[in-house]
Amino acid sequence: MATPVNAQAPSPPQLSDKRYKLLEATMRRYGYQGHALIESLHTAQEAFGYLDDFTLRYIAKSLHLPYSRVLGVATFYNYFTLKPQGEHACVICLGTACYIKGAPELVKAIEDHYHIKVGGTTEDKKLSLLVARCVGSCALAPVAVLDGEVAGKLQPEELLARVRARVGEEVPA
Ligand code: FES
Repeated sequence: MATPVNAQAPSPPQLSDKRYKLLEATMRRYGYQGHALIESLHTAQEAFGYLDDFTLRYIAKSLHLPYSRVLGVATFYNYFTLKPQGEHACVICLGTACYIKGAPELVKAIEDHYHIKVGGTTEDKKLSLLVARCVGSCALAPVAVLDGEVAGKLQPEELLARVRARVGEEVPA
């Protein structure tokens, strides 16, 4: 018997991520109806900075829609960004709390160091830089999410050091 496309259901550890709670709240508000699809994709995009396969499958399963339909909508509209090309992703939150606490300086530090703009990927495809509109951890503002790991109360130098370590960049002694 064929395996249903929605069989790869999200696993519980990922769902403890606060960003999924934001997404869950949107879907609940619409009673998990199919017409919540665009709104749910918007919420996910704003919370994660992009839409990865796991999240698309999660939305499909929750709204009882075929994965193909969800993927089709996500790829049709320019507003939505699928998982970035970089080996590593740095998503900086530009929601109000993070913005006030200095998130624009975090963005600038990464842009200047790697010579990329938001939405861009370094030439060696090691790093993609994205922004989100609230990742649900406002108490830790300003926040960045590195490869899915939330880091809070960041200063630009600290974020840069973390990103450099993650991409395996040699840091001069
Ligand atoms: S505004 Fe950045 S986590 Fe909420």
